[in-house]
Amino acid sequence: MSDNPHAPNKELAEAATPPTPPTIYRKDYRPPDWLVPDVALGFDLDLAETLVQADIQVTRNGDHGEPLRLEGDGLEPEEVLVDGAASNDWRLEEGALILPLSGDAHRISITTRIQPDKNTQLMGLYASNDMLCTQCEAEGFRRITFFPDRPDVLSRYTVEMRADKERFPVLLSNGNLVREEALEDGRHLAEWHDPWPKPSYLFALVAGDLVANRDSFTTMSGKEVDLAIWVRPGTGDLERTGHAMTALKNSMRWDEERYGREYDLAVFNIVAVSDFNMGAMENKGLNIFNSRYILADPDTATDADFDAIEGVVAHEYFHNWSGNRVTCRDWFQLSLKEGFTVFRDQSFSADMGSAPVKRIEDVRVLRAAQFPEDGGPLAHPIRPDSYMEISNFYTATVYNKGAEVIRMMATLAGDDGFRKATDLYFDRHDGEAATCEDFVLAMEDGAGLDLTVFRRWYEQAGTPQVTAKLDHDPQAKTATLTISQSVPDTPGQSDKQPMVLPLKTALIDRATGQHKGEQLLVLEEAEQRFTFDGFDAPPALSINRGFSAPVTLSSGQDVETLAFLARHDDDSFARYEALQQLVTERLVSEASGSEAEVIDDAMLAQVFADILADDRLEEAMRAELLTLPSESFVGEQMAVIRPDRVNQARQAMRKMLGANLAEQWQQHYVKLAPSGFAMDGAARGARRMRGLALAYLVAGEVGDAAGTAHAHFEAADNMTDRQTALASLAGMEHPLREQALDAFYTRYKDNALVLDKWFSLQALSFHPDVLEHIAALAKHPDFTLANPNRVRSLYGALAGNPSAFHHASGQGYRMLADMVIALDPKNAQTAARFIPPLGRWRRFDEGRAGLMRAELERIRNVDGLSRDTTEQVVKSLG
Ligand code: ARG
Ligand code: ZN
Repeated sequence: MSDNPHAPNKELAEAATPPTPPTIYRKDYRPPDWLVPDVALGFDLDLAETLVQADIQVTRNGDHGEPLRLEGDGLEPEEVLVDGAASNDWRLEEGALILPLSGDAHRISITTRIQPDKNTQLMGLYASNDMLCTQCEAEGFRRITFFPDRPDVLSRYTVEMRADKERFPVLLSNGNLVREEALEDGRHLAEWHDPWPKPSYLFALVAGDLVANRDSFTTMSGKEVDLAIWVRPGTGDLERTGHAMTALKNSMRWDEERYGREYDLAVFNIVAVSDFNMGAMENKGLNIFNSRYILADPDTATDADFDAIEGVVAHEYFHNWSGNRVTCRDWFQLSLKEGFTVFRDQSFSADMGSAPVKRIEDVRVLRAAQFPEDGGPLAHPIRPDSYMEISNFYTATVYNKGAEVIRMMATLAGDDGFRKATDLYFDRHDGEAATCEDFVLAMEDGAGLDLTVFRRWYEQAGTPQVTAKLDHDPQAKTATLTISQSVPDTPGQSDKQPMVLPLKTALIDRATGQHKGEQLLVLEEAEQRFTFDGFDAPPALSINRGFSAPVTLSSGQDVETLAFLARHDDDSFARYEALQQLVTERLVSEASGSEAEVIDDAMLAQVFADILADDRLEEAMRAELLTLPSESFVGEQMAVIRPDRVNQARQAMRKMLGANLAEQWQQHYVKLAPSGFAMDGAARGARRMRGLALAYLVAGEVGDAAGTAHAHFEAADNMTDRQTALASLAGMEHPLREQALDAFYTRYKDNALVLDKWFSLQALSFHPDVLEHIAALAKHPDFTLANPNRVRSLYGALAGNPSAFHHASGQGYRMLADMVIALDPKNAQTAARFIPPLGRWRRFDEGRAGLMRAELERIRNVDGLSRDTTEQVVKSLG
């Protein structure tokens, strides 16, 4: 790469630094040269060796002389037939099979042999717990057979699966089961046919010894759908599928009611697998899930786990329309299906539970994962312009910021307009591979919007910075709001243009706590002024209510105004936000030693006390309001992040609030004690608030904190309480710590998902020796790099615990880099996901920045580093 700025001296760079993979550009998109209307796949399945027979019908797309190019990754063809006759007229080029063809339509037959149990990348066909399963998005199908593995090639699939009947009694693929047969030698056959043309990334098969939770659903037009959730037998897992099944049926109904979308096959299968790189996959009629997003009962899963399951089951189901019936033209359009589908699953979860609480949680996730990405070396627009490895673009930007962009269009369109627009989008593009531009056009045509300027959300990366200033004129009795915005530079993008920002706003009378109605202000320019009449006194500004635009906003309002909003704002999000601002400004000022005017202990405790005493609040919302911003979030607000000082300031604040309000926390703790276990919203809210009260009592060292936490742990009849208590104990230097951790381990050592929690909560703890604990856990017999959930449970927690990861010794960075280097050859996709935390080095003090960079360089220089990890490291070094 001659234009690579990191290789000033080509010769030297080539000698010292391993090569950089080529970049693929959105602007280079060309329609496929060949189409594949029909595919017949035959599999002789076995763990060690699977024979794949692919028969594909190809047709020339347009008038050209290009050969057929079938992508392949690590494949050797054993035989290539063209229209039934053996062919030697092919060659391999970068793994792809290139085959010149004379006619406009041919039948190509290719035999390949693959080794599923050697597939540690978990892409393509792989083995997990003696079961065979697939993951094809984005480019895994080319690891199974040679194919035009791109999302704009849509084919009808027929799949014949043959396997040993005893070891693989269940054989599943997409669509409908059309034939089952016993074969010789104890083998059997199943044939599946999927009538809906689909891209190869939606292909799936599963073979194994599985049991199903079966149910059925009657669609809005009266069609029966057989539902099944498949899990391993004899593990207790079958009894843990009820919640996922309920979530599935609720999702099916919701999509009919809210979007008019009906399911379109007679069967819908879900399979839970333990080894999975991501959350789940929306393969047509055969969703494959990371088991953590299926399995739950109150004894092994927390209330938060239950919510995550409901959300992911819905997400994958909703993809049947937003992703499968209308798919993506190319991978640069990924947000077309992911942003929209995240928005859909967020709306669904909001409808199933508490909408205001859900909104706050979604914003928390956006700020924790997406804002740092948008402000760092890996920033990209929701529709990226280029990539080296597409797996690196399954990001919080494409997913979560993508969802915010859809949400803004929904806000601008209004409920009816948005529904008209989505109806139009689905009608227009059903059966097609569409683009983000197609979606925006459908929004314009369906809802009557002009989104010319709004399109910048697809083009410009970076989180807009908004300043809002409210001036009051007592003579004219007017309030004037001046709003200005700018979008920061990001890699490859500078001098950006203003964005369209829909800002829900209310001006609240300080005497009455009332306002005259919420208004939607739509900012389109760098600076705009809005004047409001009839204000004798200066109102309090409640802006970006419901987080209507994904921006950072400073209103410069004083402590009294923010405290007023924290008590009285009728928009739950804005109320939460006011208190978050008060707390964040105080913590930032302490951690950076600034002299800014911030809230003092007494006033902060008083705001907390008032919220604790506000009997109109739901407990879940009370807990949401009283949860302090994370250390990472506070750090992000500093010019130079000082993780140790943030930790000190935040811990001191928790201690102060715990001690000063000991009586109130105690009262809530007692009042919210359950009389029995329940899963309804009120019971869950009470559990959450009671857990928070416990955390404050512990932080405040009120009474015998360890004893209280341990009693909570012992009395727990559910995982939520058990985990809350154990998380507190894990941070203590106390003999009850080991006792509780051992008891938990002994009880759950055979349940991998619960054991993940045991790893995580130790690695996330505030314990002074947390780094030593993590180092020891990495050597624990139950730790393995082979299982992505286990890797994330320990190293995701390490990266998410600033006191551990950013320890001044650099040991946290080193441990993470050691793991990446060990994991990369086995599972590049999962390894690469751990680079972004190191890539944040520019935000830290010189000492830490240097240590982080050094680890990135060490990784960069590893021989044979994967394309996935190389891209992230090269971009992070910048
Ligand atoms: N489409 C899936 C989802 O969001 C994600 C699959 C991503 N897989 C991958 N290997 N990158 O629902
Ligand atoms: Zn998705």
